[in-house]
Amino acid sequence: MAHALLKGKKGIIFGALDERSIAWKTALRCYEEGAQLVLTNAPVALRMGEINKLSALCGNAPVIGADVTNMDDLRALFEKSMEHVGGKIDFVLHSIGMSLNVRKGKHYTEMNYEWNGKTLDISAMSLHRVLRTAWDLDAISEWGSVVALSYIAAQRVFPDYNEMADAKALLESVTRSFGYHYGVKRKVRVNTISQSPTPTPAGSGVKGFDGFLNYAEAMSPLGNAGSADCANYCVTLFSDLTRYVTMQNLFHDGGFSFTGVTQQVIDKMGTP
Ligand SMILES: NC(=O)c1ccc[n+]([C@@H]2O[C@H](COP(=O)([O-])OP(=O)(O)OC[C@H]3O[C@@H](n4cnc5c(N)ncnc54)[C@H](O)[C@@H]3O)[C@@H](O)[C@H]2O)c1
Repeated sequence: MAHALLKGKKGIIFGALDERSIAWKTALRCYEEGAQLVLTNAPVALRMGEINKLSALCGNAPVIGADVTNMDDLRALFEKSMEHVGGKIDFVLHSIGMSLNVRKGKHYTEMNYEWNGKTLDISAMSLHRVLRTAWDLDAISEWGSVVALSYIAAQRVFPDYNEMADAKALLESVTRSFGYHYGVKRKVRVNTISQSPTPTPAGSGVKGFDGFLNYAEAMSPLGNAGSADCANYCVTLFSDLTRYVTMQNLFHDGGFSFTGVTQQVIDKMGTP
């Protein structure tokens, strides 16, 4: 059900790869709530062509390619977006993650540091790059909102999450640090949502993902939060109803983060 929560707002959505992507679901919900959108992804992802389907579902939103590690691409993206919407941007979704060591099957203890540098750049420092570009162009309106997606491996160990745990810890730190400066300068909010394991293109790439998903389900009083609900949460953070929320890592995980154990898990352990 739509509530016109984003009526008149203009947003940039990074990271919709296909209809399983969290960014895909979020773009649809933002559009439904009245926002005008610009969609972006890495040029290589655009070649898959799926994002054009999303564009058609979002009022023919322009699709602009940008590698999030390339400052020229990011500047061009913000400039073209502002030209398209005829003013400043009200919200940005950073829904980006990629691990070279995971993709190439390297164990955490045997990490390739060159790949690790790229992972941290794509998955974490890219948020700094996006914010810096917007800052330099003064592209985000007062009380604007930027949301990036994180995972609880930033706080606790999930061995197969590998170097992405470090990337998420860095992402959450950039959120606090840049969030401070952008808050003081323009009242722009910056937050991360720490989402339950979700079956998406990136999620399914984590080793033992089904085990991850089932364990989290059994350990969450409400069960795992799905991508459609994550999209709803993003909408609230982009809306004017959450104007004083900034520099936070917000768990959207059905209670997983604060649960020590559940009866379901105890029952599964059996007796010695
Ligand atoms: N799926 C999960 O279980 C889960 C849980 C918590 C957090 N997250 C986070 O949610 C976010 C979205 O992931 P998703 O699960 O929807 O998967 P996804 O694969 O659909 O999204 C990841 C996106 O990152 C983009 N990307 C990669 N390299 C890029 C680059 N150089 N420039 C621009 N874009 C680039 C990809 O093209 C893709 O669209 C990620 O930050 C992920 O870590 C996912």
